[in-house]
Amino acid sequence: MPVKQTKLPAGEYVPRHIAIILDGNGRWAKKRGLPRTAGHAVGAENFRKIALYCRDIGVDYLTVYAFSTENWKRPSDEVKTLMRLLNKYLHEAIDTMERDGMKMRVFGDVEGLSPELQALVARTNEIAKRIDGFQANICLNYGGRADIVQAAQHYARDLAEGKTDRELTEELFSDYLYSSGVPDPDLLIRPGGEQRISNFLLWQCAYSEFYFTDVLWPDFTTEELDKAIAVFRQRDRRYGGVKV
Ligand code: IPE
Ligand code: IPE
Ligand code: MG
Repeated sequence: MPVKQTKLPAGEYVPRHIAIILDGNGRWAKKRGLPRTAGHAVGAENFRKIALYCRDIGVDYLTVYAFSTENWKRPSDEVKTLMRLLNKYLHEAIDTMERDGMKMRVFGDVEGLSPELQALVARTNEIAKRIDGFQANICLNYGGRADIVQAAQHYARDLAEGKTDRELTEELFSDYLYSSGVPDPDLLIRPGGEQRISNFLLWQCAYSEFYFTDVLWPDFTTEELDKAIAVFRQRDRRYGGVKV
């Protein structure tokens, strides 16, 4: 069992599912006179640190936004670097996820990725089946709208092919999303200073608590995460009801 290293008081409530928009890599690099791609390399390293910390403090699910359906608009060199980093990261994950007790899943339109990346994603998913416990979801070529559209298409196909006769409910629809089987995020964190959702988990964030910080993703430490969790604990989640 991993050693609990949290500085949070023992027994304090930890969000079951944390989602993070990994933003601010480019500005982090620019501030240091480095190319944007240098920021992405540091940002990718930071993911591992934060993911292991989440595992250690008892978070069940961490979902990170690593590459959006809109990020293809970036200069081709930057896209290439991001794909190379993802490739490297998935290779490492394949080697370490069982040892680390970290079940990795990829959410997004995998078919839009290179054949090599697709093979790595398939391998990652295969290994993930053997792992129980903490789950890290990487959103890759992910868009919230695209997620909803692919779910609707998939349901329509199942209906037409007689694979389902179930009436569409919110619960059933959720099962068609990339995040099928994963509870909605309790806390959504966006570092990097922007206060928008940028097409992240649109359906899944219906009742998530949002936390925005100016800290850039490569500077986002476990202490910053503790701060976000502390703020989350002060929130009063009503889900449209009234407090009794
Ligand atoms: C986040 O950092 C990484 C991706 C979106 C892939 P950015 O590259 O968006 O960094 P900024 O927002 O330009 O600083
Ligand atoms: C959101 O960041 C996407 C990811 C972090 C993967 P962006 O940097 O792409 O978002 P905008 O362009 O500021 O909205
Ligand atoms: Mg950005």
